[in-house]
Amino acid sequence: MAFDGNEADRLRGLLARWRSDLAAWAIPDHITAAAPQSPWVLPRQVFTRRADRLAAAPAGPSYQRAWAALDPPGSILDVGSGAGAACLPLLPRCTSLTAVDAEPDMLGLLAERAAAAGIRAALVPGRWPGVAAEAGRADVVACHHVLYNVPDIEPFLAALTAAARRLVVVEITAVHPLESLNSLWLRFHGLVRPERPTADDLLAILAAMGIHARSERWRRTSGRDYGSFAELTDITRRRLCVPPERAAEVAAALTDLGIDPDRPVDLGSSGRDLVTISWGGIPNDLDPGASSG
Ligand SMILES: C[S@@+](CC[C@H](N)C(=O)[O-])C[C@H]1O[C@@H](n2cnc3c(N)ncnc32)[C@H](O)[C@@H]1O
Repeated sequence: MAFDGNEADRLRGLLARWRSDLAAWAIPDHITAAAPQSPWVLPRQVFTRRADRLAAAPAGPSYQRAWAALDPPGSILDVGSGAGAACLPLLPRCTSLTAVDAEPDMLGLLAERAAAAGIRAALVPGRWPGVAAEAGRADVVACHHVLYNVPDIEPFLAALTAAARRLVVVEITAVHPLESLNSLWLRFHGLVRPERPTADDLLAILAAMGIHARSERWRRTSGRDYGSFAELTDITRRRLCVPPERAAEVAAALTDLGIDPDRPVDLGSSGRDLVTISWGGIPNDLDPGASSG
């Protein structure tokens, strides 16, 4: 797509803003230095529970867009698959499945689940878009809850488009997933945390890239993410760089936030206000360089 100078400047500005907004989420050194454990927790149990819940009861616009694009059935590429929350609900219309994830053990969790449904997933460990050539193309490319991890967003998005023959479906939270912990950072450290980037910032970038995307805002009904309130408290405590001996204070703060101890939902990754963003891929006959695989 040809850009005039103003459009190119606008895109450059939006990309720079996205990158600096993400960088602002870094935790100050004096806090991490005093923390007994790394605060950057990716709770496996949250992602496996969610994948299992969605596979058992598929719902929501992200599922609906991808499902419709898989008529007739076709191949799926899940980028940043985790345990497979995006792709497992689609397996009844899946002719082949490829999953990419930077964390190899996440791919293991997905492979077990796909195998139980009779599909042998091709697993590509590594970071997108670096491993895009290895992953190949697919009819539908899904990428759920990954983009707030991606400072260099333009090549990431461009590679999603290039990989899709029919449709790209991205799901993200309306605001950064760690935003739900902001009031707790203020309470425990007196630290004001960022509020951007947001899904609107992503939509502005896609528009400036010349991608005509459809977006749908919706709310996921909450499901239980943790086996117990103690488990939620422990993960939240780690994320906040608070030592284990102050766990009771974290539990009290969670209760003050209105968390139901009988229904412990993850705060750092489960924003319930979601945005499904979808756009067309590149059919093989419009992409002479593409293989049919
Ligand atoms: C928040 S989890 C979401 C997992 C799953 N898509 C879901 O919706 O439950 C994000 C996943 O993306 C992976 N990830 C983050 N950046 C990535 C990248 N550049 N390339 C591949 N995987 C990435 C992480 O390892 C993690 O498994």
